[in-house]
Amino acid sequence: MKVTVVGAGAVGASCAEYIAIQNFASEVVIVDIKEGFAEGKAMDLMQTASLLKFDTQITGSTNDYSKTAGSDVAIITSGIPRKPGMTREELIGINAGIVKSVSEQLVKHSPDIILVVVSNPMDTMAYLAHKATGLPKNRIIGMGGALDSARFKYRLAEALECPQSDVDGMVIGGHSDTGMIPLTSIATRNSVKASEFLSADTLEEVAKATMVGGATLTGLLGTSAWYAPGAASAAIVHAIATDSKKMIPCSALLDGEYGLSDLSIGVPCIIGKGGIEKIVEIDLNDAEKEKLANSAAAVQKTNGLLEL
Ligand code: 2OP
Repeated sequence: MKVTVVGAGAVGASCAEYIAIQNFASEVVIVDIKEGFAEGKAMDLMQTASLLKFDTQITGSTNDYSKTAGSDVAIITSGIPRKPGMTREELIGINAGIVKSVSEQLVKHSPDIILVVVSNPMDTMAYLAHKATGLPKNRIIGMGGALDSARFKYRLAEALECPQSDVDGMVIGGHSDTGMIPLTSIATRNSVKASEFLSADTLEEVAKATMVGGATLTGLLGTSAWYAPGAASAAIVHAIATDSKKMIPCSALLDGEYGLSDLSIGVPCIIGKGGIEKIVEIDLNDAEKEKLANSAAAVQKTNGLLEL
C-alpha cells in the first residue's frame, strides 16, 4: 500500500511514524509546501528504520504531487493548527483554500484514492473535500471520531481507575468543543456499563473533559496536539490497509442516516479496503438524538461559510 501524508508538521510526522512502525505500508510519501521540510522529516524517520525494525520506504517532497501518484490513501493534515483560546471553526478561512487545492491535487494523481481528512474544522473540511473532488462518499473519511473516542477512553479509564484496555466508548457528532457527543450511556468496562461504577455526575465530568480534550492540550502545548491525532489517523489507514472492517467513529457524508443529509459528521463507520463501507445506525436515546441534531446544525452553519 502507498500512503501519502500531506503536511509534515507534528500531526503529519506522527502519522507517518505510526504507519511506518506498524509496517503495513510499502511506501509513505510526505508532502509539504515548506522547502526541504518533508524531505527532512522523511530522512529522519528513515534513519529510525533499522532501530524500530520497519521496511516502509518513507520519502518527502516539496509540493510535488506527481510523487504521490498511485497512492491508495492520503491523510490531509495541512493548514494551520489552532492556538490557545481559538476554536477549530476559526481556522476555516485559511484552511479551506488549502484543503480544497490539496484534495484536487491528490485526486488528479491518484483517481482511486481514499482521503482521510484531519485539517480543522474537520467535519467541514471533509465536506469540502467531497465538494471539491466529487469522490464517492465512501472514499472521504473525517478522522475526528477516532481521536475523540480515544480521548473518551482515556478519561473513562482515569475515572474508573482502570487500564484503558478495560474500557470501551464512542464519541459521535461534530469534532468541536461543543459538538462532540461522548456516548456515556453505552460506555463499558469489560462489558459492564460504566454507569454501574460511576455516578451520573462523574460520567458528565468525563464527557465534558473529553469534549474539551483538544483545547486542554492546546492550552498546555501552545499549539494543537499531535500524538493522538497522528495515531487516530494511522488507525484508520491500518483498518483500510488490512480490510479489517473495524467499527470506528468517523466523519462521514450522510444521506438520510440519523435523519441527516448533506453534511459530514461523526457516526460509527465500518472501515475496510473500500473506506467507509457502511454507516452503522445505533439506537440513541432522546437526549443523544437532540445533541446530534444540535451538533449537525452547528456543523451546517460552519459549512455555510464555505465558498462553494
Ligand atoms: C485535536 O483535537 C487536531 O483537532 C485535533 O487535537
